[in-house]
Parts: sequence; structure tokens; C-alpha cells
Amino acid sequence: MPSIISQPVAARLTHSAIFLVVTLKPDPRCNQSVRALCADMASLLRAIGFRHPERRLSCVMGFGSEAWDRLFGSPRPAALHAFREIEGVHHAVSTPGDLLFHIRATAMDLCFELATQIMSRIGDVVTVMDETHGFKYFDERDLLGFVDGTENPVDQDALDATVVGDEDQDFAGGSYVVVQKYLHDLKAWNTVPIERQEAIIGRKKLSDIELEDAVKTSYAHNVLTSIEENGTQLTIVRDNMPFGEVGKGEYGTYFIGYARSPARIEQMLTNMFVGKPPGNYDRLLDFSKAVTGTLFFAPSATFLADVSA
Ligand code: HEM
Repeated sequence: MPSIISQPVAARLTHSAIFLVVTLKPDPRCNQSVRALCADMASLLRAIGFRHPERRLSCVMGFGSEAWDRLFGSPRPAALHAFREIEGVHHAVSTPGDLLFHIRATAMDLCFELATQIMSRIGDVVTVMDETHGFKYFDERDLLGFVDGTENPVDQDALDATVVGDEDQDFAGGSYVVVQKYLHDLKAWNTVPIERQEAIIGRKKLSDIELEDAVKTSYAHNVLTSIEENGTQLTIVRDNMPFGEVGKGEYGTYFIGYARSPARIEQMLTNMFVGKPPGNYDRLLDFSKAVTGTLFFAPSATFLADVSA
């Protein structure tokens, strides 16, 4: 059996990214245009990425539940469904999205060129729901001032966390991906004493060292997002990016999480928004509002290459 190549879901983190979420128009040309793009994605990446290989251009293409049925029909990825909103102490909204393009490179020029080429092929048959241009802030920090990404699994551990295996043989090599765009109330956050901020995140702000268990709060972000099954930690790969527009006073974090099952991301979200136990919620959410929320399946690169127009 030929080997299956995944999309670069566990690619090394970069300093620039474009997150593009679109819906499909009820246009009879839509399926053909999108399917043709799937098959051409590898060659587009080669053509643009080859100009600066050291800038590590990559793109992951994901499909929402309804879009999957419309574009590919059956069989479908076993755990793919629309993102389920969560009504807890805070609200995790579910927002429309048929296709996700997660475009990454060490510099924005390549990301922008790839996004432009993608839209030149499908722009007439899709509606853009959200386009966020993300950048890494000083020392890999988010706009709240904390280093973001430290505890991500790497190498084989990252693949084990994100890539579907024997549990769904038809879709081995694929990955589930959740995106949420968060807006921060930075004015309020910046009035919070640093020790209190550290208690909310569960790490020291300047040094990024994890707080000792004895002083960690039960609602620290890294406590609520550390989950286990039968004594084994269930991990995901995140590549959050700051974004903003100073003129609008908009400051945010674009959360993106990859996992081999959406259940583990959903569990983390429930712990954050409802609390564990209920009411013991993530105080980060008192300062960060989720304004989007969508689940996608990113099939293997082998699957995409074999799609016929
Ligand atoms: C850890 C920020 C949303 C899952 C962290 C850390 C920071 C952070 C600063 C500590 C450093 C690190 O290990 O990366 C944020 C911000 C968010 C956000 C600013 C949005 C406003 C989320 C969401 C999830 C999540 C929605 C999951 C659904 C995790 C996990 C860890 C983590 C799994 C590592 C925990 C550990 O094992 O120590 N996040 N995060 N985060 N976050 Fe978030």
C-alpha cells in the first residue's frame, strides 16, 4: 500500500500566518473549482515556496462538515461535525466556515502570495467569512505578554497528537482542526497585577517558567487545558498568533488547535468555558472573547492530490 503523506499540521511554528475561512456559494461551478484547487495545492506550494525555501511556506486546507458532504460525499471522517457552541460561564460561539486555509511562513510575503493565488482560483465561488493576518510578538509572546506555545508536543509526539491512525483507516493521515478568534480587553488586562496574571495562565510572565503545583490555582489556563485519559495526557498542537488593528483598538489571539480527535479539544474548551468542576472556569476568558468558532477536517496531502476536478 502506498504511504500516506499528511498535510503539514505539525509544521514548526513560524512568525507569520494567514488564517482564511470561507463558505461555499450555491454556485454550480463551486465543486469543480474547489476540487481542482485541492489537486493543485501541492504544485502551488512548490511554485511559490521554491522562491524562498528557507521561509518554510506551508498550507493546511481543512473542510467543514457540510462542505465535506457537498464536495466529497461518502465516506466521511468519523468524527467530523459542525463546531458545537458552549454556553458556560462564558460563551464559545459556533460560526460558519466551509474551508480553512492555514497558511504559514517565516515572512508574510509568501503567505500573502499563496492566499492571493488561492483566491484567484476560488474567489468567485466562495464568500470570505474571516481573514486574519497573524504575527508573532516579541519572544513568541501573545498580546497578553505571555510566551505562547511552550508546552506544544514536538517531532513524533506532535504527529501522535495530531494525525489520525488506525482508528479511522479511510482517513488515516488526516487531522481535526479547531479555530477560534479571540478579542482581548487589553485595557482591563493591563490593570491586573502581574502575579494575578501569572495565576490565571499558570506560568511566570517574564521567565515563562511553569508555576509549581503547590501555588497553581485550580482554574489556571494550563491546569484546565491539561487533560488525561486512563492516566495518559491527551495533547494537541497549537499555533496561536497575535493579530490586531491599532486604529480600531482591536487586539487578539487567533487560536488554532490540531488533534487526531476533536473530542480532546472539545474537552479543553468545556473545562475553560464551563469550568472544572462547573464554575471553576478559565479567568483568561474574563479578558478574551471568542468571536468565531469552527471545526474542520484536514485530510492527508495524499487525499488532496488524488481529488479529481
Ligand atoms: C497553554 C495562551 C486558548 C490550550 C497556553 C499558554 C499560554 C496560552 C500563554 C502557556 C504556554 C504554552 O504552553 O503554550 C492562550 C491564549 C488563548 C488560549 C491567549 C486565547 C485567548 C486556548 C484554547 C485551548 C488552549 C482555546 C484549547 C482548546 C492550551 C494547552 C496549553 C496551553 C493545551 C498547554 C497546557 C500545558 O500542558 O501546560 N495557552 N491560550 N489554549 N493552552 Fe492556551
